[in-house]
Amino acid sequence: MTRRLRSPAARFSLFAIPAVILPAVILAILGYHSLRQWQQSADTLFRAQTRDLAIMTAEKLTMVLRAAEDESLARLQDVLAGPHPTQEAVRAFIAATPLIQGLALFDAHGKPLYAPIGRGVESRFFPAFVRELPPDRWTRPAARHLAVEDHVIILAPIPKGLGGEPLLAALSVDRQALRRELLEKTLAPLEGPAIPVVVDAQGHAVYARAPVEGAAPIVTVPLGGALPSWQLALYHPPDALPGRAVRRQVILFSAVFGVLLVVIVAGLGATYRLVRRETEMAELKADFVANVSHDLKTPLALIRMFGETLELGRVPNSATRQEYYGVITRESERLSRLLDNVLDFSRIERGRRTYRLVPTSVSPIIHEALESFAYVLGQQQFTVKVVVAPDLPEVPLDAEAVRQALANLVDNAIKYSTDRRVLQVEGVVRDGQLAVSVADEGIGIPPEEQGRIFEKFYRIGRSDTQAKRGSGIGLALVRHIAEAHGGRVSVDSQVGRGSRFTLWFPLGTDAAAGTEPSSGTARGVTRGADSHH
Ligand SMILES: Nc1ncnc2c1ncn2[C@@H]1O[C@H](COP(=O)(O)OP(=O)(O)OP(=O)(O)O)[C@@H](O)[C@H]1O
Ligand SMILES: [Mg+2]
Repeated sequence: MTRRLRSPAARFSLFAIPAVILPAVILAILGYHSLRQWQQSADTLFRAQTRDLAIMTAEKLTMVLRAAEDESLARLQDVLAGPHPTQEAVRAFIAATPLIQGLALFDAHGKPLYAPIGRGVESRFFPAFVRELPPDRWTRPAARHLAVEDHVIILAPIPKGLGGEPLLAALSVDRQALRRELLEKTLAPLEGPAIPVVVDAQGHAVYARAPVEGAAPIVTVPLGGALPSWQLALYHPPDALPGRAVRRQVILFSAVFGVLLVVIVAGLGATYRLVRRETEMAELKADFVANVSHDLKTPLALIRMFGETLELGRVPNSATRQEYYGVITRESERLSRLLDNVLDFSRIERGRRTYRLVPTSVSPIIHEALESFAYVLGQQQFTVKVVVAPDLPEVPLDAEAVRQALANLVDNAIKYSTDRRVLQVEGVVRDGQLAVSVADEGIGIPPEEQGRIFEKFYRIGRSDTQAKRGSGIGLALVRHIAEAHGGRVSVDSQVGRGSRFTLWFPLGTDAAAGTEPSSGTARGVTRGADSHH
């Protein structure tokens, strides 16, 4: 039992899907995942770096602020420890210290020494100041910071105040000076695209290096003790965000992958076509071998049968004997025609077929070709019409090859005729060419098949064709022969009405130029013919 092979398409998809499509899909998924991971880690790294930068910047700000504070407090100490620590001296201190805009002094019991000077230390804030004072206010020399409304207050103990008594100073920080002298000087030269923004306890931006409307901060860190509840936020200009770069990569990756996919699909398509063509060719070749073998077998069997009968002397009369001899001759002729076809075809395939073009009259060739079919034509009661113009010029021909081509055309005309058995052979000069046509009134050829019948091994897959034996190389040979003569073969056919095949041969150089054909031209031209695939 033989199992029919799967169609090439099915086999191909069986191979293509796991071998090509699947890896492509896996690659796409992996690529997408790694891009996503890359995007995530780039994002994490970016945030971590930004946070580090923010923390460092905040520390730096605090340091600068403390240094300025310490310097101011040291001068205040000097003023208060001086010989005349008057209100005027304190005013002079405030005037000389841009960072401080107001000052109030308290004695060891929390009592204000005199009315507050400057802004930000109004007496209504005093309870808040005192509440903030730790019990060990005098022994701890470090300053404390306090946010009251939108003021930043420094609460600093002055160990040796008036007359050596400890004092407590509440200094109000000037926001404008803070921004100008400290924030701007520290933050403006910050490197990188990050935009630092300092936000006060109420959430108002005190300083921003660049406008950041609508954007969300990447990180926000507290500014620490020196500016209580203040924060440093870092923003990023949108086109410097790593997400952008990653998105660009994703687009690039997708584009490249898309192109790759198109190439793969195109490659698959091409491979599929190739596989299909090869499979078809393999099938055609297999059919060819079967057909040729069968075509060889039938005449051989006949020859043998009639030969044996004759040999045994069992034939009653000489007329029958004569008929048997006739059968043997005809079948041998059929055999040699078939073998000629196959041998020539194989020569063509190997590029070995050569043609000897000699100026020849076509009329005898036509008659010779018909001669070998005389018996069959008679037996099948064909009406044969031969019209050959009497004044046909001699044209460069390979007589044997042209006879073979005509024999193939006549063979087809006989094979593919059914009830209307008419064979018409014509030789004329038309359109400056010698046209030899073989016409029948047989089954005809559908238009879509008319191009393919000249391909090697091709036979029309209709039941009425398949019923006739044939190897499918006849018309391939005809075309090759016509082209080797510098001519061509044309077909004109209608299904059910009949077919006309015409061989067109150029008349030779002089004739083509419109003068009488000269027998001298093209004498002995031998053309090597290319094989057709
Ligand atoms: N005169 C015709 N009328 C109808 N169909 C034809 C005719 N001549 C050729 N064909 C179709 O073209 C096909 C190819 O013809 P071709 O002569 O190459 O092969 P074949 O006759 O099948 O085999 P072989 O090699 O023995 O000639 C045929 O199988 C047939 O289907
Ligand atoms: Mg044929």
